[in-house]
Amino acid sequence: MASSILINTPSSSKNPKHLKNGTTDEYEVTIATLPKQNGWVNENLVKYHDTWFNSTTLKGVMLAQDHFVARPTDIFLATFPKCGTTWLKALAFTIVNRNRYDFSDHPLLTKNPQALFPFLEIFSLRDHENEDELEISSSPRLFSIHTPYPHLPESVRSWASACRIVYVVRDPKDVFVSSWYHMKKIRSKELPQLTIEECFKMFCEGVYQFGPYWDHVLGFWNASMQSLDKVLILTYEDLKKNPIDSAKKMAKHLGHPFSVDEEKNGIVEETVKLCSFDNLSNLEVNKTGVTKIASFRYYENHVFFRKGSVGDWQTHLTPEMVEKINEISKQKFRGTGFTAYVSP
Ligand code: A3P
Repeated sequence: MASSILINTPSSSKNPKHLKNGTTDEYEVTIATLPKQNGWVNENLVKYHDTWFNSTTLKGVMLAQDHFVARPTDIFLATFPKCGTTWLKALAFTIVNRNRYDFSDHPLLTKNPQALFPFLEIFSLRDHENEDELEISSSPRLFSIHTPYPHLPESVRSWASACRIVYVVRDPKDVFVSSWYHMKKIRSKELPQLTIEECFKMFCEGVYQFGPYWDHVLGFWNASMQSLDKVLILTYEDLKKNPIDSAKKMAKHLGHPFSVDEEKNGIVEETVKLCSFDNLSNLEVNKTGVTKIASFRYYENHVFFRKGSVGDWQTHLTPEMVEKINEISKQKFRGTGFTAYVSP
């Protein structure tokens, strides 16, 4: 069963009894003591070592930390939410599995990219919930992650492990606008609605799942500085501007470089076209289908697609908001070598 792929303890790899007391109570006890805040959707956020998590997701993060064993061939697609996870999942899956599937009969034509392989933090919960509905390619294994770098399992972070990470980062102003629209689509109608000003304040203070955004970026940036071989950083803006070059870079980093023949035969272009916003967002499955992302939640597939553009913040943010977010970026990123969103 798929969960045994993940939980890989030496003694009893399939049995939840490998947990200290046979349950996940120990995590729940810890989580219950953490500082709490109302979240953007309907969950209470909890603060764990300076990061805000949804409490259920945090249990998955803790389980992964304690029990996940990375394989040298594992691939981790890392993002802060709304930075291009859906796109990255589509691209990585298509690149890595290009010898398994024809473009004319590809899983992406009938499944949302989110359904192709799981989030590590959610998947790790499933050993205890007996769920096995997501497809996972056998080798290499692909995992999506929103978990900040310092919270990843040791076997993923270890320089001795040959597993690969691709991190996609996006202008925080567009991330905020994308998050705002996403929140409006999925926040429970029974809860009081949040204003854009309230959400903006929360975002700037880091009160957002896996936030603060800036610390998330720096965690992966610093890791990439220590090992370019392990962590590849791409920007959403570069992916939009140079999708062909970005796809080639990704394929090379993941150990599946496009051959000269493939390049000549237009396979890179086909890959990029299949995964493009225009193509995916117009497929029937992504207009009307639903995907079970977590055992506790179904999402309508259309919520993962909105505009897919760069600079939409210009029509949504006031000059004061722009100044505030740029100032935070300047302060947080100063001296780190990460210059992408630091205006002069
Ligand atoms: P916008 O809200 O700005 O349109 P995530 O997948 O991390 O949740 O990010 C969602 C953002 O990525 C949304 O941005 C969405 O429209 C955009 N997106 C989804 N699929 C995309 C694709 N194939 N190409 C480019 N952008 C995409």
